[in-house]
Amino acid sequence: MIITIAHQKGGVGKSTIAVNLAVEMELPIIDLDSQNSCYLFSRIREKNHGKPLEVYTPGNLSELKEFLRTRKGEELLIDSGGYDNDLNRYALVVSDLVITPVSPSQIEVFGLEKFLKILRKAKQYNPKLEAYVLINNADSRSLSEIRDLERFIEGEDLFQLLNSKLFRRVDFRRAYQNGLSVCEYKPNSKACRELRALIKEIKLHM
Ligand SMILES: Nc1ncnc2c1ncn2[C@@H]1O[C@H](COP(=O)(O)OP(=O)(O)OP(=O)(O)O)[C@@H](O)[C@H]1O
Ligand SMILES: [Mg+2]
Repeated sequence: MIITIAHQKGGVGKSTIAVNLAVEMELPIIDLDSQNSCYLFSRIREKNHGKPLEVYTPGNLSELKEFLRTRKGEELLIDSGGYDNDLNRYALVVSDLVITPVSPSQIEVFGLEKFLKILRKAKQYNPKLEAYVLINNADSRSLSEIRDLERFIEGEDLFQLLNSKLFRRVDFRRAYQNGLSVCEYKPNSKACRELRALIKEIKLHM
């Protein structure tokens, strides 16, 4: 079972979500982020807390293929890079589930339309791929933008919308800086509650 956090658009929260899911669901990550955000997180985590997180950073497509061959059948997370290249496309082709974080604004909807084209192509090679949009970095005061985004996604047959949402919470940034998931960092926070709800929902689709 491979879950990929993907969007060709940068800065939507892929790595933030990937590290939080990896810690809380105890899954290894394949880090395709060009800044190696998950790998760097795991370094802070190991140094500050001695807690390991398995992160693999393939250098090229054949290394990625070889890694996936040796770990066949395992549950894995992929943090896809914020651009369209051969590794990120391959990740979609081998995934069972793709989660695309989007924040509610018109500019993000345009970005999502572009990703739909990439996804449509991936689906031709991988018809079993299930694609979900996750509203992330949402502002609790922008309910009408959230509603607009929900309407756009509901009108698209390729995607389904996850009921869970992650709001803009400073704890996500601070937890990353500390090498922790938001639930390790602040167990009673809203961010942790939202993450737990998301994980519960993801498990329904696994
Ligand atoms: N729910 C959230 N609340 C607050 N800040 C967030 C949230 N999600 C993401 N961020 C912040 O947004 C920024 C971009 O997030 P992140 O690096 O995870 O995005 P990305 O999609 O992985 O980017 P890239 O495409 O460059 O790899 C970071 O500073 C991160 O802390
Ligand atoms: Mg990233």
